[in-house]
Amino acid sequence: MDLFKDRILKLRRLIEEANHNYYVLDNPTISDAEYDKLMRELRDLEQQYPELITADSPTQRVGAEPLKEFGTVTHRIPLLSLDNAMNEGELIEFVERVCKAFPGEAVEFVAEPKIDGLAVELVYEDGIFVNGSTRGDGFTGEDISQNLKTIRSIPLKLKTDQIPAPKLLEVRGEVYMDRRDFEKLNEQQLAEGKQPFANPRNSAAGSLRQLDSRITASRPLNIWCYALGACEGISFETHYEFLQTLPKWGFRVNPEIRLCQSKHELLDYYRNIEEKRDQISYDIDGVVFKVNSIAKQEKLGIKSRSPRWAIAGKFKARQEITRILDIEASVGRTGAITPVAHLQPVSVGGVTVSNATLHNQDEIDRKDIRIGDWVVIQRAGDVIPQVVKVITERRDGSEKPYKIPDRCPVCGGHVVRPEGEAKHRCQNIDCPAQLKGSIRHFVSKRAMDIDGLGDKLIEQMVDTGLVQSVADIYYLTSEQLAGLERMAEKSAQNILDSIEKSRRATLARFIFALGIRNVGEHMSKLLQRHFGSLEKFMSASFAELEEIEGVGPIVAQSVTDFLAEEKNRETIERLIRGCVVIEAADKKSYGSPPLSGKTFVFTGTLTRFTRDKAKEMVENLGGRAASSVSKKTDFVVVGENAGSKAEKARSLGIPMLSENAFLELINK
Ligand code: IVH
Repeated sequence: MDLFKDRILKLRRLIEEANHNYYVLDNPTISDAEYDKLMRELRDLEQQYPELITADSPTQRVGAEPLKEFGTVTHRIPLLSLDNAMNEGELIEFVERVCKAFPGEAVEFVAEPKIDGLAVELVYEDGIFVNGSTRGDGFTGEDISQNLKTIRSIPLKLKTDQIPAPKLLEVRGEVYMDRRDFEKLNEQQLAEGKQPFANPRNSAAGSLRQLDSRITASRPLNIWCYALGACEGISFETHYEFLQTLPKWGFRVNPEIRLCQSKHELLDYYRNIEEKRDQISYDIDGVVFKVNSIAKQEKLGIKSRSPRWAIAGKFKARQEITRILDIEASVGRTGAITPVAHLQPVSVGGVTVSNATLHNQDEIDRKDIRIGDWVVIQRAGDVIPQVVKVITERRDGSEKPYKIPDRCPVCGGHVVRPEGEAKHRCQNIDCPAQLKGSIRHFVSKRAMDIDGLGDKLIEQMVDTGLVQSVADIYYLTSEQLAGLERMAEKSAQNILDSIEKSRRATLARFIFALGIRNVGEHMSKLLQRHFGSLEKFMSASFAELEEIEGVGPIVAQSVTDFLAEEKNRETIERLIRGCVVIEAADKKSYGSPPLSGKTFVFTGTLTRFTRDKAKEMVENLGGRAASSVSKKTDFVVVGENAGSKAEKARSLGIPMLSENAFLELINK
């Protein structure tokens, strides 16, 4: 038992150290796989000995059973708010007022970014996290301990290698979400048909106020710590000293924080941070200046709800009111259609804005956005400006509702909103808006594998009108290629040769090359196995597709939509006339394929075939090629200078094959 207890303690230490390095120091020290392995071992041991589970165990970070409601927490010391300075003049007034209280003395300030998130308080007793709460009304907040525990950069146990844990420590900070993570989360919300969040702050707030902490655990939240609440067993002379101590206990402190000695340094800081605002990966809405000396803070004291020793310097507003002149459907590189509002140009925080994204039809309907509406728009960091809301009071009846058209504004192809998706899409593979992307995919290694047709060349061929459809590739002549910029005769011939070589492709490669939504390599192979010929594939019905094992309704619908587009059928016909010979699928892949259910891993330098080719061979025979060795691996094919994967295979007792032995096996 003691042995297991020791192991559990060791695992916890290793995991929390890894968490700290990754989430606090931004300096990962072990691989994801190693981390998972440690976590799994700890979880298994804790399952066997539940009496050894403690609240500070990293296994407790994954979220717990949903609560009915949050409890309340009374803050030992109220969480104050800050007075605002709206411009440089008001900031100077603040600094001068403070300095006047200490005639003849130098007054130092700490300058910090004002993080646009949610204030929380974390309470530690004897170094262990005991509870965490929201600010609430400043006196009592909500107990969101379960949720805060899921944030990996919040220590569950203080690090004590440099400085011991005090008896009581209350740390305050701001929970926030990086803009990029926020955008990703919103895309996910939209794709799932859920309402997107208006901004990173709302999404952090929404994530933190979940009664089901498992949802919080799935959200990319983070924290910057910046203030002290109650504390016993340690004291600080300055705020800066406190901030420098926090990382020693394992807390995250913002790297932009500076000690300033004068009004000029403070103003420089304010200007500099406002300028840098868009480069910082999270939202800040101003700066905070705090008197550094705690004794001076105490002397200055507080007004009713805010301290006299601190101030928030706000940045220029980023919301403005303007009018929607028109709405246009814009077609992206993948055929996704995004409605874009053309606005009466307006300056928002120093940048002129004339377009705003409306995301998709659901968003337009939900916000009831119409052409001619007066709207509040918002610019946040590098996020494309958005419409926050319509000012319905300013409507005069002339506003026109908007629906995404059912024909593509670029090519006239059909626009379809695939089942379960938020975006409408143009179905035409040759739509000029998508053409470059379609060609890039069509010629790529795993598709038709046409060597030499790089991005620059594709760009030129489309821009000069030489290629208006993927099928045109098969009608190119050496004269046409020679007419392109910087195209030597030799390279033109090389390209024609590789086009020639690509004419013999399997049905699976051909289907994959078409770039049908949701139809990847694996799915293309399933379709090849089922249909066997292009003719049969082209006459597939939704019902027939859905019956194929491994093909669900979403893929069946994508394929049906693609084949229903007359323009796509024409392109396929032209491809065939341009004599793209679709090799009949390998007979061996009918019925139960010989490598069905077998997983292969290739490692080391392969000399008899490329890794892609090897993968293709395995998959054509019904097997799977994986990238890492696990208990589920059936064979490891070992090339020259194989390293850790071969090692692992050996330790797991997995059969290892040379390249020759592999070729023998598949030729059997
Ligand atoms: S200090 C008395 N520091 O701003 C000290 N607050 O308007 C009060 N905030 O509720 C807090 N960044 O949510 C402080 N570096 C920072 C901050 C910060 C953001 C928020 C915090 C507070 C609000 C006050």
